[in-house]
Amino acid sequence: MTHARFPAARPRRLRRDAFSRAMVREHTLTPADLILPVFVLDGENQVQDVASMPGVQRLSIDRLFPLAEECVRLGVPVMALFPVIDSALKDPTGSEATNPNGLVPRAVRALKARFPELGILTDVALDPFTSHGQDGLLDENGYILNDETVAVLRQQALTQAAAGVDIVAPSDMMDGRIGAIRDALEANGHIHTRIMAYSAKYASAFYGPFRDAVGSAGNLGKSDKKTYQMDPANSNEAMREVALDIAEGADMVMVKPGLPYLDIVKLVKDEFRMPTFAYQVSGEYAMIKAAAQNGWLDHDKVMMEALLAFKRAGADGVLTYFALDAARLLREG
Ligand code: PBG
Repeated sequence: MTHARFPAARPRRLRRDAFSRAMVREHTLTPADLILPVFVLDGENQVQDVASMPGVQRLSIDRLFPLAEECVRLGVPVMALFPVIDSALKDPTGSEATNPNGLVPRAVRALKARFPELGILTDVALDPFTSHGQDGLLDENGYILNDETVAVLRQQALTQAAAGVDIVAPSDMMDGRIGAIRDALEANGHIHTRIMAYSAKYASAFYGPFRDAVGSAGNLGKSDKKTYQMDPANSNEAMREVALDIAEGADMVMVKPGLPYLDIVKLVKDEFRMPTFAYQVSGEYAMIKAAAQNGWLDHDKVMMEALLAFKRAGADGVLTYFALDAARLLREG
């Protein structure tokens, strides 16, 4: 007579000791998975705290150098630049966005000259440059014009490529902009410039602190971006957006925001098998910081768990304001 075995399986066996947990671990986070977004200011020796993003500062170009050095030291492969433009330079068409000697091209040149091995990514969108805070040009009813905007974005991307940027990342959500930018890059000899497309970018309230950081919140006022950014209710539409961007020439695709949209990350990775990135946006960062400051969550543990969750969902990398903190923990414990 055989004994009935109870329980039939003991999954806890593999969880019992650190060695067997490590043996069967399916996903890992490394510094190479992280991209550091930074806010860059004009001037010299300028440092401003961003109130809604504790630990994040707006920095002049010279003050970015130590951060770039830290990225190189820790193995964070890319820094993403977001400009804070003087309000006197903002106008309805965002014309400063195509100035070859503007803040972004100057920052790119300075960083690439000093840290050639560090990847530099620039955002292609007009919101830091427009007096109304929208990502494009407006018609008389306030509707964001598509094709007219794409013509400016094309020029903005060329300006960034000419300054030597490694990756352009259109975050504007206009139709056809990836194809237009790819054509412009090819036609002007920038055949190595990579495009990371913000493909599935949602009209999210989680961008609030970022808009404070770049100073577009006041300009935007009560208006929103729902006529170009995606409806948070949709996921099939994300697949169509990603398919278009790949067909138009994107090298990498992105989903944004991050943690509340991990289902989209997973769908995109499973469907397209493309290098897929997620943006843990300013509001996600602010929530973790606020809870940690109140003693309600363990800062480092929650940070690492959230970042690992992106990897588990299928992301190849994460744009995160925690990039240096997380890389330091990974390298130095
Ligand atoms: C601008 C842009 C935004 C973010 C990145 N690029 C804001 C927006 O679309 O309003 C948000 C990043 C963040 O919240 O951390 N096109």
